[in-house]
Amino acid sequence: AMTSLLALPGVLGALEGCIVPASSLLLLETLGSGCFGTVCKGILTCHDGKLEEVAVKRLRDNATPEEARHFSDEIALMKSVGHHKNIVSMVGCCIEGGVTLLIVEYCALGDLQRFLREAAKAMSEERGPDLKYIDICHSDSDSENDYYERQAKLSQRITAANAVSNATYGMDMGDSDQKNSLRLSSKDLLAFARQVADGMEYLASTRLVHRDLAARNILVCEDRTVKISDFGLSRDIYEQNVYHQSGYDKVPIKWMAMESLMHREYTTQSDVWSFGILLWEIVTFGGSPYPSIPNNGLFQLLQRGYRMEKPANCSEELYQVMRQCWREKPSERPTFTDLKKRLDDLLVTAA
Ligand code: ADE
Repeated sequence: AMTSLLALPGVLGALEGCIVPASSLLLLETLGSGCFGTVCKGILTCHDGKLEEVAVKRLRDNATPEEARHFSDEIALMKSVGHHKNIVSMVGCCIEGGVTLLIVEYCALGDLQRFLREAAKAMSEERGPDLKYIDICHSDSDSENDYYERQAKLSQRITAANAVSNATYGMDMGDSDQKNSLRLSSKDLLAFARQVADGMEYLASTRLVHRDLAARNILVCEDRTVKISDFGLSRDIYEQNVYHQSGYDKVPIKWMAMESLMHREYTTQSDVWSFGILLWEIVTFGGSPYPSIPNNGLFQLLQRGYRMEKPANCSEELYQVMRQCWREKPSERPTFTDLKKRLDDLLVTAA
């Protein structure tokens, strides 16, 4: 075990007190995979003999030292974040055959992007063609070498497919009940956004910037609680509340604030920009932002004041919230506390 711990630099302290024996973890099917490695479902036997469904993240075998470092950072961060109902909690770690596994809470309905796309599909099948415009937003065609779009497509194919169909199309459900559980009102959509704002407010209070807030990184639980996940890019902002990205990390261009694109500067207020894009993703049922704009042309347009227009089914009030998140000056954007309050107000009047 010692060599495997040393193989992951910096992880020794992070693992302390949270290692579960490999014998208590049963690994099941793969839920998703990306460049870093894979996430699979697992069943953990707790001390009291109870069984817990978990998700297990494993670094790929031939990971580079840098990827290994990122993974150990992610484990350390997840452990330091603590518990909040809208953040995916770490359950523990496990060393299996010299490989470190990160064990987190299992969210049965998979990622929010996939969940919303499934919901849109079910609703349009039920109601006819009025939601067809969503398909236009979904054509992720612009940039061939966009790592994130490839990743999104990949996860779209594999992640929540089983979870969504199992949870939604259970054997004992009648046909109308099936559709019912995927029918989302504007209140449901606002509730998702409100929960993410709550989780982000907490994350910001622990001085963490997420840097990759997007629907693909929000997970949906059986009771429709949503949880912020994927701390792969998260950073502690110990220095003047700003994180300066040093290398050429793979970055989610269309979710990034202007100062992040321009100066690789990341703050809680740049997470707020990404939250605005996430709001847009929610309202469009998992649409792809700026569908016709290539990554390399985006910054210039933003600088000239261009912003995405109001989606068809979006209220003017909610669109104004997005626009506030996309203000050029970070200090003029709302805080997550402001956003929570604003979304609460909108929830009161929503149908
Ligand atoms: N896919 C990635 N992480 C997951 C999790 N925690 N639960 C369910 N599906 C996931």
